[in-house]
Amino acid sequence: MNLQNKPTIITIFGAGGDLTQRKLVPALYNLHLDGWLPEQFAIVGLDLKEMDDDAFRSRLRQGVDDFSRRKADGKTWHAFAQHISYAAADLTNQATYEELAQTLSDFDKQWQAAAQHLFYLAVGPSLIEPITQHLHKAKLMRDQQNSRLVVEKPFGHDLASAQSLNEMLTHNFDESQIYRIDHYLGKETVQNLLAFRFANAMFEPIWDRRYIDHVQITVAEQVGVAHRGGYYDHAGALRDMIQNHLLQILCLIAMEPPVSFAADEIRNKKVDVLRAVRPIAPENVDDTAVRGQYGRGWLRGEEEPAYQNEEGVAANSNTETFAALKLFVDNWRWQDVPFYLRTGKRLPVHGSQVVVTFRPVPHQSFPETAVETWHRNRLIINIQPEEGIRLHFQAKRPGPAIRLSPVDLRFTYQDAFKTASPEAYETLLLDVIEGDATLFMRADQVEASWRVIMPILDTWAANSPLDFPNYPAGTWGPPAADVLIAQDGRSWQQPDFGN
Ligand code: BG6
Repeated sequence: MNLQNKPTIITIFGAGGDLTQRKLVPALYNLHLDGWLPEQFAIVGLDLKEMDDDAFRSRLRQGVDDFSRRKADGKTWHAFAQHISYAAADLTNQATYEELAQTLSDFDKQWQAAAQHLFYLAVGPSLIEPITQHLHKAKLMRDQQNSRLVVEKPFGHDLASAQSLNEMLTHNFDESQIYRIDHYLGKETVQNLLAFRFANAMFEPIWDRRYIDHVQITVAEQVGVAHRGGYYDHAGALRDMIQNHLLQILCLIAMEPPVSFAADEIRNKKVDVLRAVRPIAPENVDDTAVRGQYGRGWLRGEEEPAYQNEEGVAANSNTETFAALKLFVDNWRWQDVPFYLRTGKRLPVHGSQVVVTFRPVPHQSFPETAVETWHRNRLIINIQPEEGIRLHFQAKRPGPAIRLSPVDLRFTYQDAFKTASPEAYETLLLDVIEGDATLFMRADQVEASWRVIMPILDTWAANSPLDFPNYPAGTWGPPAADVLIAQDGRSWQQPDFGN
């Protein structure tokens, strides 16, 4: 149940686009089904396209049918759809915002209550500035307690552009009103990292350089760039995934215990991690970062085109679709423990996981014959698609001789809770409605994560790759990614949940 039940209006700028249809409205619909939305609630869609309310609603219903974890059923959809309206509008024109102010105040009259206002920027980066300037001019976010702005990624293209975007936003609004989305933070398993680490007494004492050998974070995608080639070709894997999602996971794995769960306390502890990441000197980029781009190849029995032949991508594109990095966090807890990060498109599986590998036992007392299949202890945190945690350890094999075998202790969300996890956007939208910024990126966090990757971005921009494409679709990235970790005497753990 909604905790505050405050009358709420969500205005979506760019409501005719994909994000609204695929993510935002399916999430709001699920919140509605579970009774999380306030009784007085409205979704106001704005976009350039001419559409009436009915056309807009049926487009959204299609989105729910196609993309929601629960399909639209006639009665509940009808009740939900009554909360939705649409207006065709030029988002760069001040008159749009004067009309919006009127619409919002009409709701207040109808409800006989002052609603809180959430403004969602589901638009491309070029519209962020005009929309926020107009919102400011129309005084639509004057009430700091009751108006919030939600900003989607990409948040900037590099450190300088992220800084100027932050300056522009914080010049017009208070930082507490700005909700920068990183949807990975809304995933159940990502949030569970905090519960796992800080609600249990047994892991924290061994969560440091004395017991942990290294950490791997893999976010593997089978999809290519689909219809987003135009955007992606100017971004690449480092900007699209590592700067935000993977570095956020790193923060949750490496952060110090928070004193409380207050939003700023958690965000302070995360930003401390980013500040502690060892800066990468330009001359070391080649030893710490690998880039790749997929060529033609086979995946799930189908032949897939090379990245350079995807729609919206330049035929001679230098954009990376795969990136692997080795980072160090320079503090007492993590000194000299490598964190290996990798992500890519058109990899053999769809799966994201964190693998924490522990140091070997200090003394091996078993005979060599007993430990033929000896593996290090590992903690495998599966983020998706199957959500769960696996502890990999040694056990004695049944039989008269002493022989050891690795076995797994497994927890899966599905088995433990017998209920489907909410989508990340459900969690995040409810947090915006309730004014909880814990899972959103603060200005300094965004800038700190850009700072981590800037040396790599700059070096890669200055030196064109000579070997692109360098991995066939359906393989684990370029051979150099294996070398990156093999030169330290280690190897990548491929995502699988031990099925
Ligand atoms: C987005 C990226 O932020 O995350 C996409 O822009 C990527 O390129 C997507 O495909 C992956 O998200 P998820 O939730 O499917 O792992």
